[in-house]
Amino acid sequence: MNVSDMLLPSEIVEGLDTEVFGRKEIIHFRETDSTNARARELADQGAPEGTLVVAERQTQGRGRKGRTWFSPSGAGIYASLILRPSIPPNEATRITFLTAVSAAEALLHLTDLNVRIKWPNDILVNGRKLAGILTEISTERGAVDYAVVGLGMNVNTPAFPDDIRERATSILIETGKRFPRTDLLREYLRQQEAYLRRLRTSGFEPILMRWKELTDSIGRQIRVEMTDKTYVGWVEDIDPAGILILKDKEGVSHRILSGDVVLL
Ligand code: BTN
Repeated sequence: MNVSDMLLPSEIVEGLDTEVFGRKEIIHFRETDSTNARARELADQGAPEGTLVVAERQTQGRGRKGRTWFSPSGAGIYASLILRPSIPPNEATRITFLTAVSAAEALLHLTDLNVRIKWPNDILVNGRKLAGILTEISTERGAVDYAVVGLGMNVNTPAFPDDIRERATSILIETGKRFPRTDLLREYLRQQEAYLRRLRTSGFEPILMRWKELTDSIGRQIRVEMTDKTYVGWVEDIDPAGILILKDKEGVSHRILSGDVVLL
């Protein structure tokens, strides 16, 4: 890969107008197992909020529920940010909602793509997944010590393996054009910092409201696959804690904390 195509720290900071995110250390790997794993190590050693780990390629990119994240060299954004929010662990899902909104806003700001969010935090374009978020937290004495927020975004990914081809997409596939990853990463950092500031000053409600504007899920018929069961029904709402409220065909409401949603 040509150096000019890489997500180099010197290029990321150029024109970056954040105060904290990306302003601390940016650690760049040509290859690593998982940027979330690297960021957790750094956070365990005391790295401050705003520390960013990026990689050109991940050999064991982690997805939600123990899945892998397809991370071919130089194609996507594989980035993990260290946060040190003053919130109790049961509010940590807020970070994931906020990150999904930030990633969607960055895409809406810089592209013409029809970006939607699928509960809880998948970024879809034309019904296919373009980006995903994996938040991992560490707690200490009942509070969040740090959160590592990993963003995987398929930017210039030309094609996907057979098992995910039908469900995944990239900016390149959607537009036929390569997109500068650095511009997107910078905009994402800007949005993420602004939304985190908003969380601190105004609470979660305005963020959830924006999330609801950006989602297709509410009112839709869905199937939710969980480890031990599957529900089919209609999404009534997302409650103030980010829990999905599903009404089944008998009219019974279920509160769903986590699961895989298939839009029907
Ligand atoms: C999902 O399953 O939707 C979440 C995918 C998250 C992938 C990103 S890529 C950067 C960071 N490092 C990882 O190992 N995973 C996250």
